[in-house]
Amino acid sequence: MTAPVRTEPSTVKVALGARSYDIVIGRGQIASLGARIAALRPGVKVAIVTDENVGRRHLAAAEAALAEAGIAASRVIVPPGEGSKSFGVFEQVCEAIITARIERGDLVIALGGGVIGDLAGFAASVVRRGLDYVQVPTTLLAQVDSSVGGKTAINSAHGKNLIGTFHQPILVVADTAALDTLSPREFRAGYAEVVKYALIGDPDFFAWLEANWREVFAGGAARERAIVVSCRAKAAIVGRDERETGERQLLNLGHTFGHALEAACGFSDRLLHGEAVAAGMALAFDFSARQGLMPAAEAERAIRHLAAVGLPTGPQDIAGPLPPVDQLLALIAQDKKVKRGMLTFILARGIGSAFIEPGVDQGAVRAFLSEKLLRR
Ligand SMILES: NC(=O)c1ccc[n+]([C@@H]2O[C@H](COP(=O)([O-])OP(=O)(O)OC[C@H]3O[C@@H](n4cnc5c(N)ncnc54)[C@H](O)[C@@H]3O)[C@@H](O)[C@H]2O)c1
Ligand SMILES: [Zn+2]
Repeated sequence: MTAPVRTEPSTVKVALGARSYDIVIGRGQIASLGARIAALRPGVKVAIVTDENVGRRHLAAAEAALAEAGIAASRVIVPPGEGSKSFGVFEQVCEAIITARIERGDLVIALGGGVIGDLAGFAASVVRRGLDYVQVPTTLLAQVDSSVGGKTAINSAHGKNLIGTFHQPILVVADTAALDTLSPREFRAGYAEVVKYALIGDPDFFAWLEANWREVFAGGAARERAIVVSCRAKAAIVGRDERETGERQLLNLGHTFGHALEAACGFSDRLLHGEAVAAGMALAFDFSARQGLMPAAEAERAIRHLAAVGLPTGPQDIAGPLPPVDQLLALIAQDKKVKRGMLTFILARGIGSAFIEPGVDQGAVRAFLSEKLLRR
C-alpha cells in the first residue's frame, strides 16, 4: 500500500494542567509519529501494542515513522476483538512490555481501536507503576471517543470495563487515512458517537451532519472536520470533569438503553457498541419527548438522521430474539444506583440540550420499553 498523502493536520488540545496533551488529526499523520514522539520525549524506547487486523494494515507505517526518527520499537500483537480486554491478554501485554525493557520514561503506543486503547492504556498505567503512552486510534469510534479522556479498562466476568484506571495519554495521533481500511459497518457504528456530541450540546453541528454526512462517510475534509468537532467537544467536557463526577456523565447519552441492548445481544457482532448507542440515543430522545421535555417532531428529527445513515433506532431494528422487558430493566438497573425506584438517565430538552436526570421513574421506563418491544 502506498503511503497516504500527508495533509496539514488539525490540533485539539486537552487542557488538564500538567497532564495536558494534543490530539493531532489528519490524513497520513501516522508518518509524523516518530518526529512527534522524539520532540516530546527525546531518546525514548517504545512498545507498540496492536491487534492482528490493524497490525497487518498499519504497523509497518508506524514502525517506519519511528525508525525514521531513530526510535527503537518492539511490537506486541494481540488477537482482535473485545475478548482481548481480559486478564489473560492483559497479563501477556504487561509481560511483553517488561520483556521489551520498557522502563520508566519510555513509552507504550496503542495502535488500534478502542479495545487496544483500553488494554494498552491500562497496561501502561500499571506496569512499573505507570508508563506514559500515546494513542494512535484507527477506528472512528476510537478517534472521536475512546482515545481521548484517559479512561482505560479491561472486562470482568461481572461486566464490561469494571477493572481500569484513569490514565491520560501524552499524545493522540488520529490518522484519518487509517479509517479507509475500516469496514463500512464499523465506520457507521463509530459515527453514532459523532452524532452523540451534536445531540448533547451542538445543534449547529447536528444540522451540519444532516447536510454533510455522505461526505463524512466518503472521507476527505468533511470527515476530518467531523472528527475535529467531536474531539473538541470531548476535550472540553473532559477538561472540566476529568473523573466523571458531573458533566462528563453527559457522554453517556444513549448508553443506558444502549448497554442493556448490547448486553442482551451478548456483546457480539449482532449489535456493535455504536449501533447500540444509536438505538439508545433514539430511545432517549423518544422517551424525553414522551415525558414532555421536547416536541415529538424534535425527537423525530434526531431519530430520522440516525436512520438515514443506516443505524438502528430501537428494538425493531435488532434482528433475533431480545429478552422480556423485566430482564432489560434489570440490565439497566445493574450498572446504575437505583434510589427509591429512580434511575439516572441522560435526557434532552431538544437537539443539543442534553442534561443529567437522576429522577427517572423505573415504572415509566418499563412502560416505554414494553411498548417498544411489542412493536417488533
Ligand atoms: N476508554 C473509553 O473512553 C472508551 C470509550 C468508548 C469505547 N471504549 C471501548 O472501545 C471498545 C470498542 O472500540 P472499537 O469500536 O474501536 O473496537 P475494536 O478496537 O474492537 O475495533 C473494531 C474492529 O476493527 C478492527 N480495526 C481497527 N482499526 C482498523 C482499521 N483501521 N482497519 C481495519 N480494521 C480495523 C479491529 O481489529 C476490530 O476487529 C470497547 O471495548 C469499548 O468499551 C472505550
Ligand atoms: Zn460509547
